[in-house]
Order: sequence, then structure tokens, then C-alpha cells
Amino acid sequence: MKAVVLVGGEGTRLRPLTWSTPKPLLPIANIAFLERQLAWLESYGVDEVVLSMGYLPDAFHRHFPEGRFGGVTLRYAVEEKPLGTAGGIRFAAEGITERFVVCNGDVLTGLDLAAMVEFHEARGAEASIYLCQVDDPSAFGVVPTRDDGEVVGFIEKPPRDQAPTNWINAGTYVLEPSVLDRIPPRINVSIEREVFPRMVEAPGALYAFHYDGYWLDIGTPEKYLQAHHDLLRGALPGTLAPGAVERAPGVWTQGEVHIDPTAVLEAPLLVGAGSVIGAGARISDSVLGSGVRVEADSVVVRSVLFDGATVGGGEVLDSVVGSGSTIGHGAGLSDVTIVGPGVTVDGGSRISGGRVPADDPRG
Ligand code: GDD
Ligand code: MG
Repeated sequence: MKAVVLVGGEGTRLRPLTWSTPKPLLPIANIAFLERQLAWLESYGVDEVVLSMGYLPDAFHRHFPEGRFGGVTLRYAVEEKPLGTAGGIRFAAEGITERFVVCNGDVLTGLDLAAMVEFHEARGAEASIYLCQVDDPSAFGVVPTRDDGEVVGFIEKPPRDQAPTNWINAGTYVLEPSVLDRIPPRINVSIEREVFPRMVEAPGALYAFHYDGYWLDIGTPEKYLQAHHDLLRGALPGTLAPGAVERAPGVWTQGEVHIDPTAVLEAPLLVGAGSVIGAGARISDSVLGSGVRVEADSVVVRSVLFDGATVGGGEVLDSVVGSGSTIGHGAGLSDVTIVGPGVTVDGGSRISGGRVPADDPRG
């Protein structure tokens, strides 16, 4: 089976991390998000994936220099200007003449894709949408259905009090190739605002598969941290990180790490290869990439430190530190502060809910 993964968005809500790295290539517990998604697709027999790209396409070429991941062959469809979700699918699916799968490139899920394809087949649907349930549907596509799953409306991001249900578009579709004929070529078209609402008018064309397993859109800083919190707690069993060994209950390490005997490690925790944790440091509920240095007496709680980051005796709470960045002695990050790659935060500074740098570092 073939799939199109939409990875063309700019990931604006995850800046400054996404100034240089597209959202699907950000690590989630030390594995690029897209690799998790490709492994999931492969486990359901997907063997060819077209990446529908626009923003920072070279980063994907660099990440997969062989043009493959495991048993999945990758093809690249690069838009000159953003074509939107449906325009992107139409462009990327050029040449696909059989049933295929489409995924948003930022959704972490344990969806049973085989069961969804079976549902699609049984209904004789032209398109099927995976739906999950959330408390506040206003940030999503809201999808009311009949009892048999036929979609009766598709309302993208309605005001909270106007959502008819809390079952939302979870960002995975099974499509027959005829759906492509519903999308005009070479222009910006939204599948959520244009294609699906129009398909609602065609009886028997559009169905929705309700599935209440784990689901998270990683696209905001809060949700990005949440994804780590959830994976550390086994939300998607068997997929924490390659080579991770549980050396104490809930404390996972990859490869060789150096942990001072006076450091306090509180589960759950993942420490990447080659990381060094100094005397008296305290780390809990966090993910450290490879080659991270948490120096003496630092505190790291509910945070994510990318490869090569250093915490030089400061405090990092509920925050993300980009690759190779240094948090100086006595500095404090808190309340979902996001530090981009290659940044030095001066010793003694306090940042709460900040973005460092605040603007595009490339000028
Ligand atoms: N190729 C391409 N071209 N991809 C794009 C473009 C584009 O112009 N615009 C966005 N994308 C990709 C993004 O990279 C992302 O993977 C996906 O399309 C969805 O875009 P988001 O920006 O993440 O949308 P959203 O999260 O606000 O809403 C979407 O996802 C929700 C579930 O997480 C919608 O599909 C909602 O209906 C849905 O509920
Ligand atoms: Mg999203």
C-alpha cells in the first residue's frame, strides 16, 4: 500500500525549533517524529511513502539520504508554493492509481490502520477519515456522523460553543484515487475546508472511523512536551527509543552514559548515549538526547534536552532546550520556555514561557 504524508507546514507554533528543523523531523523521545510515523505505516504493510513537502525540503533529503526508511521507499514531492492540504495530496499522489493512505505529519497515534482500511472497504467509501475524541474540539476539524459512520458535516475549527460533537478529524485518511479528481490541480486547496465539506453532499462517499486509542497532535509546545510525558509512561507500548535499557524502574538509558552516584534520577526518564550527569544534579520526567551535559547541581524537570545541550548548573522546568545550546550557571527556564539550537542563555537569567531567539535567527 502507498501513503502520502503531509509535511509541508512551517510548524510556526514550534518556533524557534522549526526555524531550522521541520516539525516532522523534531525528535520525540530521541527518534525523529517522522521515523515513528513511517515505522507505524510500515507495520501495516505500507511500502512506499510520498513526502508532500514545501518547507525546508533539503532537511528531509539529508535525514533520509538513501531515500528509504526500513522497508519503506520514500519519494519526495516538493511544492514551489504551498498548495494546502488537498493541493499537496493531489500533487504528491501524481501517478497513484490505487487506494492509498494520507497522514498529517504531526500526529502521534496507535490507530489500528488495518481495521480502518477494513471499515473503508466494508462501507464501499470513496474516502474515510479517522476520528478521535477530544475535550475541546475547537482547534480541530469537527466531524458529526450517522450511526453507520457516514459523515454528515465537516466543520474546520468552529467556535467552541458551535461544535456539534467532540469527535474530531484525527488526520489520517484512506482515499480512493477518484478523490484526486475532486481536487483542482496546481492551486492551493484545503481538504478540510473545501474537499470534505463538498463530499458530504455526495451520498455514500465519505465515512468516518471512530477509534478511541492514544492520539496527540504534537504541533504546539505544550503538546510537544506532552508527547514525551506520554511516551515515557508507555502510551505507545514498545516504541520508546532504539537500544533503550531500563536500568531502574522507569529510568531508561541508551548506550554508555556517565551518571555521578550523587545525582538523583526520578522516573520516568530517558537518557541518550554519551550523556553526562554531574554530582548532585536532579532530573525527573525528562528526555535527554545524546551527548547532553547536565552539570553539577542542575535541576531538570518535565523537560526535553536535545542532542549536545548543556545545563551548566541551572534549572530547566517544563521547557525544551535545542541541540548544542547551553543554559548558563544559575539560569532558570520555566513554564514552557523553548530555546532553539545553538543558543547560549546567560548565567543567572530567568526566562518564563519565553522563545529564544524570538525571531528568525537567519534574519
Ligand atoms: N504539503 C503541504 N502543503 N503540507 C501542508 C501544507 C501545505 O500547504 N499546509 C499544511 N501542511 C501539512 C502540515 O505539515 C501538517 O502535517 C498537516 O498538513 C496539517 O497541518 P497543521 O498546520 O498541523 O493543521 P492543524 O493541526 O491546525 O489541523 C489539521 O490537523 C488536525 C488534527 O491534528 C486539520 O487536518 C484538522 O482538521 C485536524 O483536526
Ligand atoms: Mg497539526
